[in-house]
Amino acid sequence: MLFVPLSLLLLCQLLVADAVQAAQQCRLQLNQKSSLSGGDVPSASTASKSTATTSRSATAVGASATSSSTPFAYGKTPVRGVNLGGWFVLEPWITPSIFQNTGNDAIVDEYTFGAMQDSATALSVLQNHWETWITEDDFVAIAAAGLNHVRIPVGYWSVPLTSSDTNGSTSAAPYTPGAWPYLLKALNWAKQHNVHVILDLHGAPGSQNGFDNSGQRTSSTEWENNSSNRTRTVDTIRYIAENIGGLVDIIELLNEPATFLSSSYPAALRQFWQDGYSAVRSATGTSNQVMIGDGFMGVDSWTDFMTAPSSQGVMMDYHEYQIFSVDELSRSFDDHISFACSSMTDLTNFAKSNIWTVVGEWSTAVTDCTQWLNGRGVGARWDGTWYTPNTPLGSCAGWTGSYSNFSSDYKTFLRKYWEVQVTMGENVQGWMYWTWKAENSDDWSYQKGLEGGWIPQDPTNRLYPNICS
Ligand SMILES: *[C@@H]1O[C@H](CO)[C@@H](O)[C@H](O)[C@H]1NC(C)=O
Ligand SMILES: *[C@@H]1O[C@H](CO)[C@@H](O)[C@H](O)[C@H]1NC(C)=O
Ligand SMILES: *[C@@H]1O[C@H](CO)[C@@H](O)[C@H](O)[C@H]1NC(C)=O
Ligand SMILES: *[C@@H]1O[C@H](CO)[C@@H](O)[C@H](O)[C@H]1NC(C)=O
Ligand SMILES: *[C@@H]1O[C@H](CO)[C@@H](O)[C@H](O)[C@H]1NC(C)=O
Repeated sequence: MLFVPLSLLLLCQLLVADAVQAAQQCRLQLNQKSSLSGGDVPSASTASKSTATTSRSATAVGASATSSSTPFAYGKTPVRGVNLGGWFVLEPWITPSIFQNTGNDAIVDEYTFGAMQDSATALSVLQNHWETWITEDDFVAIAAAGLNHVRIPVGYWSVPLTSSDTNGSTSAAPYTPGAWPYLLKALNWAKQHNVHVILDLHGAPGSQNGFDNSGQRTSSTEWENNSSNRTRTVDTIRYIAENIGGLVDIIELLNEPATFLSSSYPAALRQFWQDGYSAVRSATGTSNQVMIGDGFMGVDSWTDFMTAPSSQGVMMDYHEYQIFSVDELSRSFDDHISFACSSMTDLTNFAKSNIWTVVGEWSTAVTDCTQWLNGRGVGARWDGTWYTPNTPLGSCAGWTGSYSNFSSDYKTFLRKYWEVQVTMGENVQGWMYWTWKAENSDDWSYQKGLEGGWIPQDPTNRLYPNICS
């Protein structure tokens, strides 16, 4: 049984090299083969069961591609990982050069990147970026840093739905589609280097939060209040599960839905989590973990939600940053540490009596000084360059950019802050740092943290083992 799927994987890899349709073709191949494989999968009598059968075969394909064919031991081994931010979803602060090079200040996100220049230009810049921003060497370095997971943010516009996958629109306009084959290549690198994957839908049609990192920076989000947009999102999740469920461990249904935008949002989101969960389960059975998020409501708002036995294998994604308000920015170094310790208590209690929980985004950044962190053309709260009245907390010099300018006190803090948040994550089911690389922001870069020495090469290393006591 192992032999056949492995050969199929190789076939899929060959297809990846030259076709956007790669996964579709892999799925067709798997469909044909799965009817031959008989023995270890239940025989399929309906179309929907045959989809499930196919996907189980796909899972076997993924698993057989690495020396470790056992699934990751969630709940026993901590998730330790990094986000591959700014790759398949552009963010101005992560790759400012891509935005600067457009010569157009109105291009502030991936939506305007597609809308405000000709499509051939947009595609060629993006293809070069997809090819170069993260390479196999990064997977090698990530594994060498003792990390066992990557979280890969993807926008819906990169998922090549066909008209047989949805009753809604399949258009990605004005976005630039074409990242899918690069994603498939990355999933194979992950397998080869024994790195597990959280596939994270980071941008939904209409935008789930209006942040540039959803693809569209807008004050008029239309995901939560337009049911065709939500249905297309479920169709997108189903497509992901059917086509690449076997190559990823966790499917995260949606990143950072901003429930604070409207009073009807929390109910819409609860329904979406259920619908997305069902879409994954009907496609791949129980082989994928399904990740939901707290939607900025705090994990306690999700007490008793989607717990076993009615839902199995559901994980909570919690994000922690302490820099997106003046109050948080005003905390002293020690206050930042204490805050992380208090979050730890809350998360631990939630995870114990509800569902497995991962701190899926956090960083060591302690200011909002990185250029365009708050959006292209937007200043920082820290130095008073954003809105008025905004009393500056200080100058941004020495807080971001190259670490050659970081003081030794600052680097000592970065190490403590890394360590307390890792401790928080390991008190629940794990952590994913945001982010692996940034062009000009070493305070946010795991890669630069390793190089500059404030992040240890062995993530179990502790200089401050009793940091919360
Ligand atoms: C499209 O609509 C038909 C008829 O209502 C339904 O049977 C089918 O499941 C729908 N397909 C999707 C992908 O939602
Ligand atoms: C999302 O909804 C808005 C209107 O509410 C619509 O204009 C837009 O086209 C939808 N987006 C997609 C991708 O379907
Ligand atoms: C959805 O809500 C946003 C603000 O919450 C609003 O700007 C937008 O016009 C609404 N769209 C629809 C289709 O109701
Ligand atoms: C919702 O979005 C669809 C396109 O996805 C659009 O056709 C429809 O008009 C939108 N509904 C509202 C109420 O804006
Ligand atoms: C170091 O900081 C100074 C003053 O802010 C700045 O001009 C310089 O570009 C920085 N150097 C690097 C390498 O970031």
